[in-house]
Amino acid sequence: MGKKVTVVGAGFYGSTTAQRLAEYDVFDTVVITDIVEGKPAGLALDLNQSRPVEGFETTIVGVTTGPNGEGYEAIEGSDVVVITAGLPRKPGMSRMDLLETNAKIVRQVAENVAKYAPNAVVIVVSNPLDEMTALAQLATQFPKNRVLGQAGMLDTARFTNFVAEALSVPVKSVRTLTLGSHGDTMVPVPSKSTVNGKPLRDVMPAEQIEELVVKTRNGGAEVVALLKTGSAYYAPSAAAARMAKAVAEDSGDVMPVCAWVDGEYGISGVYLGVEAEIGAQGVKRVVETDLDADEMAALKEAAEAVRAKQADISSL
Ligand code: LAC
Repeated sequence: MGKKVTVVGAGFYGSTTAQRLAEYDVFDTVVITDIVEGKPAGLALDLNQSRPVEGFETTIVGVTTGPNGEGYEAIEGSDVVVITAGLPRKPGMSRMDLLETNAKIVRQVAENVAKYAPNAVVIVVSNPLDEMTALAQLATQFPKNRVLGQAGMLDTARFTNFVAEALSVPVKSVRTLTLGSHGDTMVPVPSKSTVNGKPLRDVMPAEQIEELVVKTRNGGAEVVALLKTGSAYYAPSAAAARMAKAVAEDSGDVMPVCAWVDGEYGISGVYLGVEAEIGAQGVKRVVETDLDADEMAALKEAAEAVRAKQADISSL
């Protein structure tokens, strides 16, 4: 059977994710849903008309959903569901300012996903990311490996891009890693970062690395401040779409994602940004990497910060 993926939310993040997924040409169907009447259907029409030009066969279906789950039958049989629903940040807002508003939206979406696509792997991208991922697991009651969040791929891509720009080298020659939360306690990991295989610390002064670490942590806010009307979507959708593709292809690729951590790094019982092997069932396993003492301390701090917030989730 051909693969089916659903993208919930037809804003910029959702529509660019749907476009990328369709252009991979590995899915039979990409469903895009939204509560705005007509918008998903319009996007689907438009995307389908790009098929002859871009040369892909994937069919895009756009569906408007209602407050009582109307329309959700269209997502039946989805192998993957990407939840982008919710509000983006406005300039000056932190991701955490979206907690209550987006919790209501994500809970409702997740309940419908559980009902109509009970075997799907759920990839959450709504903010605040770590909390919305935990909430989606609670609301779906799916096994924890089948609910994960997109953040580490994006934060790592930002870090890599900034390093490549600063050194005027191809992005391909740079490897970086970002763990922890998708927020104030993000943990960029210079000790695991390399340029042409050489440790980043050997090719860049410590203060410049620290500048890029801070820039990475503020990567989303910098875009929000410029766009003024919403948050980033090109890099975020690239990250989310690659995760969905890895699930569909059962690739086993190791990616930084928001995953349920259960003992790794001595941390338990929290959704946190870590590296994980991604396959048809979502997270196959969390992959631990050696961190230096500062990075380890920062990861533990991130875990406790996220844990405190995730504890509030059940009441939202
Ligand atoms: C960002 C948002 C999408 O980091 O969280 O751009």
